[in-house]
Amino acid sequence: MSKADVIVGIQWGDEGKGKIVDKLAQEYDMVCRSQGGHNAGHTIWVDGKRYALHLIPSGILNPKAINIIGNGVVLNPDSIIKEMEQFDNLEGRIFISDKAHLNLPYHSLIDMARERLKGDAAIGTTGKGIGPAYADKINRVGHRADELLDPKTLSKNILNYFAQNKVIFEALEVEVPNEAELLEQLEYYNQKLGKFIANTTNMVWEAIEDGKKILLEGAQGTMLDIDHGTYPYVTSSATVSAGACTGLGISPKDIGVVTGIVKAYTTRVGNGPFPTEDFTEAGETMADVGKEVGTTTGRGRRCGWFDAVAVRYASRLNGCDQLSLMKLDVLDGFETIKICVAYEVDGKVIDYVPSNMENIKPIYEDIAGWDSVVGCREFDQLPQTAKQYIQRIEELTKTKVGIISTSPEREDTIIR
Ligand code: GDP
Ligand code: IMO
Ligand code: MG
Repeated sequence: MSKADVIVGIQWGDEGKGKIVDKLAQEYDMVCRSQGGHNAGHTIWVDGKRYALHLIPSGILNPKAINIIGNGVVLNPDSIIKEMEQFDNLEGRIFISDKAHLNLPYHSLIDMARERLKGDAAIGTTGKGIGPAYADKINRVGHRADELLDPKTLSKNILNYFAQNKVIFEALEVEVPNEAELLEQLEYYNQKLGKFIANTTNMVWEAIEDGKKILLEGAQGTMLDIDHGTYPYVTSSATVSAGACTGLGISPKDIGVVTGIVKAYTTRVGNGPFPTEDFTEAGETMADVGKEVGTTTGRGRRCGWFDAVAVRYASRLNGCDQLSLMKLDVLDGFETIKICVAYEVDGKVIDYVPSNMENIKPIYEDIAGWDSVVGCREFDQLPQTAKQYIQRIEELTKTKVGIISTSPEREDTIIR
């Protein structure tokens, strides 16, 4: 018997999960996604070549690992078909849960229409139909991957769904699909994806029983979690480690080491509260040096200082055994680095994350910066002040920093 280790985003996504999953995948037999959809954008750099993954797990660059897309994922067929084109011989290397819900082109149209209607209150979604696809699943009107195996019936069911929701679609100006085109599209999906659809619950159970090493790759981040994030400015899935259990069909007892991925500063893409956002030159430098542009939408990411209150909260929610501190090199050259140690809300100082994160004033501590850590591969090579920054993060978040990343490249990683 083995346990499944978890990689989970601790901030608002884009922490560098893809890099760490790819790095660690060399030692794993199976890498699984359990939630989210093609809103995720995980970037991997190996020997100067860039890979951008949205639905395919970041274990794909390790030829030995089997990659699973679990039942908790919302699967956009066009997106995964396009992504698969980057790789050869995927048969037997990727499996899609027969229970994964489909995220079809109309979900994205609904998503974008809702965002338009919200105006100033828009969430700033990726426009990929994630909310509407999960809403259909919870409303019990969604369609699952195994239905792709019978395109004729699925096509009929989708047209029935449109008939039942006619009023809503008219209000949102979402057109009813043309019957012949819909069937043709579903037949194409079946032809491209049919052979990858499997009972992945059984596959994961067997792997656990056979003592195989399993890595679960989170998407998005804890502060975007549907329950524990900055609601309503969140995504529509359980992004915390516990979500990986329902999203794959394993029990809490099957979970092993939980590693929280966290940037040495903070970024957020889309709207919503961000207490440590920095609107000065410092924030601009983080954006420039960190190349903070979204992998999925190309939007610029908002940048700010490390928020130890939010990270402590996220570490507790996920049961993190350790943190992996990413992009430490992006802070190279800063004379002083700020770290948020508490919040002020309505004149009162608090040390926890409240349910409403609007109107928080961050309370900072200043820490001395360093010249350069870029490309460091040994902890002892790090400047003293960088070590002090790491130690302060450990104290404030009550979590050990077990991994430190000093460039986008796989090998520029310190494992303590
Ligand atoms: P994910 O969604 O959590 O997988 O993260 P993204 O891939 O969306 O964003 C992280 C970005 O930071 C990617 O472009 C990575 O190549 C890059 N990156 C990861 N680790 C490091 C690091 O230690 N230093 C620098 N400079 N870039 C990094
Ligand atoms: P990875 O896996 C960062 C954000 C969107 C928006 C909110 C809701 O690459 O870390 P959605 O389309 O999910 O309904 O949008 O969530 N968002 C992400 N931000 N990284 C992601 O994924 C994200 N996936 C969704 O920008 O604010
Ligand atoms: Mg990303």
